[in-house]
Amino acid sequence: MSSVVIVGTQWGDEGKGKIVDLLTRSADYVVRFQGGNNAGHTLVVNKQQYIFHIIPSGILYEDKKCMIGNGVIIDPAILLQEIGGLAEKGLPVTPERLMISENAHLIMEYHRRLDQAQEASLTKDKKIGTTGRGIGPCYVDKVGRVGIKVGDLLDEQILRDKLTAALEEKNFLLKEKFGEQPVFFDSVLANLLDYAEKLAPFVGNVSVELDLARTRGENILFEGAQGTQLDIDHGTYPFVTSSNTVAGSACNGAGFGPTHIDSVIGILKAYTTRVGEGPFPTELHDETGEQLQRKGGEFGATTGRKRRCGWLDGVVASDAVRLNGLTGLAITKLDVLSGQSRIKMATSYKLDELSLSAMPANVKEAGRVEPVYEEMSGWPSEINEITNYEDLPVEAKDYIKRIEDFTGVEAVIVSVGPDRDETLLLKDPFEV
Ligand code: GDP
Ligand code: IMO
Ligand code: MG
Repeated sequence: MSSVVIVGTQWGDEGKGKIVDLLTRSADYVVRFQGGNNAGHTLVVNKQQYIFHIIPSGILYEDKKCMIGNGVIIDPAILLQEIGGLAEKGLPVTPERLMISENAHLIMEYHRRLDQAQEASLTKDKKIGTTGRGIGPCYVDKVGRVGIKVGDLLDEQILRDKLTAALEEKNFLLKEKFGEQPVFFDSVLANLLDYAEKLAPFVGNVSVELDLARTRGENILFEGAQGTQLDIDHGTYPFVTSSNTVAGSACNGAGFGPTHIDSVIGILKAYTTRVGEGPFPTELHDETGEQLQRKGGEFGATTGRKRRCGWLDGVVASDAVRLNGLTGLAITKLDVLSGQSRIKMATSYKLDELSLSAMPANVKEAGRVEPVYEEMSGWPSEINEITNYEDLPVEAKDYIKRIEDFTGVEAVIVSVGPDRDETLLLKDPFEV
């Protein structure tokens, strides 16, 4: 029995979905614990692509259970769309396969509208570049103790009371602050009651279910969303998301005790990408950056935005090792570096006369640091079809070794293509 947490080590889109899908074969439960449908997790199985925003990436295995923990925020329309989409593909999602925590909060229409209106009202240097999915405003309401929870869907009077109170404030903001149309009580309530009927069979106590699974000796896989540098506390604030994305969040976001976590695998893209605004020390504004963007197919899985690209950042990787207590690395998209004659990795930052080994907390400084690079030889040949670690070009193995030495964490998975099969599993994290 073991419990494994998967987290992103950079700014998201490291390939978490692919690795979660791969590891699900050894798991009994797959659990999302934070974030919402700002996430876009891509799986490719037998050349068929699936993108999940809210449903855990273990859902393609019919004998596994998927859980959406209390730390997740749920847009019910999107969740129902994903359930419907899977059913159309012949994969019915039944309450035996999916449980939603009664304590997860709901993303409401007014959260989306406020997220978009707020972003639109900001000057260019202040924009966060959010996904516009209502993430920030929903977490604000949760922390402000006025959010609407999944469990509230089962009690119409609570829904009516909370909605009445919320609309008084939200419509004031929409109309008076942003000059937007208000949201109407009757239509929001009607939608909620419709969602309630459809989602009620899925609602349960995820914490209790996971504890029972653990005591039965089953394997539990926790699926993080976003990445360490997007963490609300530890990321490049304010250019972050509104939840804790680090591994500790798996415990509070699912109701699972920290002493029961056995390993934490950090997903590390072999280079770096970022969507939206904010500091990105190793960003490339040249042809190499364009090449990584094109070869890596770096477009956002949620918003379709072009991802900014740059070299691997060892400072970011070290931050992730420390903040998540990583026990293993899954190095993804190594194939995208094929064809680069030289490969660079930042090993520290220079800030004026200072040398830094961690991302500065001050966002202006984070925007000003100069990466100090180490250069390595690249490899010319494509590596997608390699199934044996030993068969990788020697330069690729040297690159992996350098990452392991620099971070002090071993690589347990190397991914050489988007498909489930294009993966070198060096050590199964469930077999520790
Ligand atoms: P996530 O948000 O961390 O799950 O990552 P995304 O799904 O948003 O972005 C990762 C993208 O890279 C997806 O299009 C994946 O299909 C793709 N991908 C994952 N691993 C690899 C890999 O090793 N090589 C290549 N070429 N693509 C990969
Ligand atoms: P996955 O799980 C990459 C970014 C947004 C924006 C910032 C805040 O697919 O890795 P938000 O809508 O959360 O308020 O936006 O965070 N962001 C992501 N970037 N991958 C993600 O998720 C992201 N989720 C949010 O682009 O910069
Ligand atoms: Mg993504």
